[in-house]
Amino acid sequence: MSVHTQQPSVSADNPVQRKAHTVASLLRKKDQGQKIVSLTCYDYSTARILDQAGVDLLLVGDSLAMTVLGHPNTLSVTVDEMLHHVKAVVKGTRHAMVLADMPFMSYQADPVEAVKNAGRFIQEGGAQAVKLEGASERVIQVVRHLVEIGIPVVGHLGFTPQMVNTLGGFKIQGKNLEDVKKLVDGALRLQEAGAFALVLEMVPVEVADLITRKLRIPTIGIGAGNVCDGQILVVDDLLGRYSELTPRFVRQYMNSGALIGEAVQRYAADIQTLAFPDNDTESFAFPVAALPALAQWAAEL
Ligand code: KIV
Repeated sequence: MSVHTQQPSVSADNPVQRKAHTVASLLRKKDQGQKIVSLTCYDYSTARILDQAGVDLLLVGDSLAMTVLGHPNTLSVTVDEMLHHVKAVVKGTRHAMVLADMPFMSYQADPVEAVKNAGRFIQEGGAQAVKLEGASERVIQVVRHLVEIGIPVVGHLGFTPQMVNTLGGFKIQGKNLEDVKKLVDGALRLQEAGAFALVLEMVPVEVADLITRKLRIPTIGIGAGNVCDGQILVVDDLLGRYSELTPRFVRQYMNSGALIGEAVQRYAADIQTLAFPDNDTESFAFPVAALPALAQWAAEL
């Protein structure tokens, strides 16, 4: 895969001066025609870098089941495992909104459990909002309840990874009029229930455009063209350190997998040749004045 390298407009060395994002500030971006920049994030040090680089929204996505935990899909990650990562990302974030993904079975089976689990992401995790997949009656009911009690919600339609077994694999959605009607209806019902943004994953550009123009709330696309109000990518894909799955919509901005591999090989070589660590600059010396005593004691050992 080719690596896309263009000059960044902001960098970790030159942090953008700005306030912390809120639901209102993200909604304002759509009204002002400014795109929302989002990435997934799963740990403290990456959160610091992404936040300082100017990312608006950090999603602690259940994709961490694959990229961090090595599972073949997102289905097996639990609320407790997700919380562990949400807490770390929140600690590293000052400006971006931190959005916690509700994992499979944390909101589908029981509306009361759904509200409790969402509450944990806010209360224990420190996230500002949660994301749920789908627009079934049950999900809409949960969204309405969460919004009523003060938990901001982001919806997720199109390819919804938690339905991978029903959808028959990682497949583009909304390819016929019947499916488009369902997507538009679901998007409008999520908005009506109080969702403040909607992730659109793997839908044709025309469908993403239609939904984006129909909604007051921003759409955030992944594999849905540049017509959405914002974009999101899995950070490991953008950085080139997850190679198990390389969908067409991923743009790799660096090949950090190769860079890390090279750095580790140099480290290994330096250890063998005694080039690392340098005893003068990377180690600690015994106090010179006490060296004779040390030498004498060692000789008598
Ligand atoms: O979990 C995730 O990474 C996501 C994005 C693909 C939107 O839901």
